[in-house]
Amino acid sequence: LLAGLGAAGATGLAGGGLLGAGAVRSSSGAGDPARDLSLSRGGPRQGLPPAVLTPTPAHVHVVAVDLNAEEPAQVSEQARLVLERWSAQARELHGHGLPELAPGTPARGLHPASLGVTLGLGAGLLERAGLADRRPDPLADLPGFEADRLEPGLCGGDLMLHVGAEDPLVVSAAVEHLLGGVREHATVRWSLPGFQRAAATAVDPSATPRNLMGQIDGTVNPDPGEARFAPQVLAAHPGGGASWMDGGTYVVVRRIRMLLDDWSALEPRARERVVGRRLSDGAPLGGAREDDLPDLAARDADGEPVIPADAHIRLASPERTLGARMLRRGFNYDLGWGSDGREAGLLFTAWQADPRTGFTAVQRELDRGGDALNAYVRHEGSAVFAVPPVREDEPHVAYGLW
Ligand code: HEM
Repeated sequence: LLAGLGAAGATGLAGGGLLGAGAVRSSSGAGDPARDLSLSRGGPRQGLPPAVLTPTPAHVHVVAVDLNAEEPAQVSEQARLVLERWSAQARELHGHGLPELAPGTPARGLHPASLGVTLGLGAGLLERAGLADRRPDPLADLPGFEADRLEPGLCGGDLMLHVGAEDPLVVSAAVEHLLGGVREHATVRWSLPGFQRAAATAVDPSATPRNLMGQIDGTVNPDPGEARFAPQVLAAHPGGGASWMDGGTYVVVRRIRMLLDDWSALEPRARERVVGRRLSDGAPLGGAREDDLPDLAARDADGEPVIPADAHIRLASPERTLGARMLRRGFNYDLGWGSDGREAGLLFTAWQADPRTGFTAVQRELDRGGDALNAYVRHEGSAVFAVPPVREDEPHVAYGLW
C-alpha cells in the first residue's frame, strides 16, 4: 500500500479534495503518526510528501547532488537509475525503517523515529538531460535579491534528497544509506543538516518552535486541512509536458546565515520591531495572542505605525504580496565557528505551487520595502527543486520523464 515517498499520487492529491475525511492533520502532534517514533513518516497517511507533514521533524538533512554524466542520454540514464534506486530505498525505509535494511547501521537499536524521505529535481538536470521542453514554468531560476551573498558551491544541484526524523542518528544513517547506493552516479554538491527543538524537551510540543534568533517562527502558514492549502502549495499541471509534476510541489531552499552577534546586541524592543511580533509569545505588536491577525493600520500615540513600515511581517504579509503564500518549514543550522565567524542560521524551506508567485513575490516585497531583518541575515545558499508526486502505479518518482 505504501507508495514510497509518501507523496501523493494523482488520486491522493486531486483538486481541492486533497485529504480524505480520516486524514490526520493535527498541528499539535497529539495522536499524529508523524510523532510516533515507532513508525516512519512515509506512506500516504496524509496524501502529502513527508517533508510537508505536520508536525515537522526535529532533524532534517537536505543534500543536493549532481549526476556525474555529461552527455544528455547518459544524464537521463543516470537520473533514471538514481531515482529508481532512491524510490525503492525510500519505500523500504518507510515500510521497515533503517536497522532491518542495513545490518550494522549506526541506527541499530533505534526506532524509525518518524523517518521520511522526499526527493526533488533541479531545473539544470532537465536541461542537461535534453528535456528542456518538459521543464514546468514554475521551475524558473530565481532572480537576484538584496540579501543575496550566494556562494555557487552552496546553490543549485541536479537532485535533492530531503531526509527528516526525530533522531539525528537516524537521519545521518539514512542519508549514508541512500547516498551509498548511488556513489558511482552522483556527487554531493552541497548539504545542510538542520534541527528544531525536540518534542521531548519542549515544555509544550504543540507550540510553534523558535529559531536561533529566539523568534517564534512558523506562525502564519497554510494548514493541510484548509481549502487554500492545495492551490497554494500543490502544483497543478493536469496535461502537457509538465504533467509529471501534477500534484507535486516546488521547494525553495535557502541557507540564510544569521548575524547573531549583531542581533543579540539589539535591545529586545528593537528586535521585536524588526519582525513586528513580540519575542515573549509571538503576538503581533499591538495584538494579544500569537494567532491574532496583525493590525497593519494601527498607530501609536505619536501617530507612528505600531508595526513599523519596514517590519518583516508587514512586508511579507499577504496584503503586500497579493496573497502570495507558501508553506514555510524553517530549520535551524549551527555549524559552530568557521573561518569567517559564527556559522549558524536558518535552513529555510518553502513549499509552494509556484515559486514565482510564492517565494519570489514575497522576497521581492521584502527587498522593495527594505526588510529590517536584512541587516541581520545573509543568504548564502539557494536552490529550487520540483518535488513530483509519488504515484502508486509508477515504479519511481518522475516516471513520466524517464
Ligand atoms: C513571518 C523570521 C526569512 C517569509 C516570519 C516571522 C518570523 C520570521 C519570526 C513571524 C512569525 C511567523 O509567521 O512565522 C524570519 C527569519 C528569516 C526569515 C529569521 C531569515 C533568517 C524569510 C524569507 C521569506 C519569509 C526568506 C520569504 C521570502 C515570511 C512570511 C511570513 C514570515 C510569508 C508570514 C507573514 C505574515 O503573513 O504574517 N518570518 N523569516 N521569511 N516570513 Fe520570515
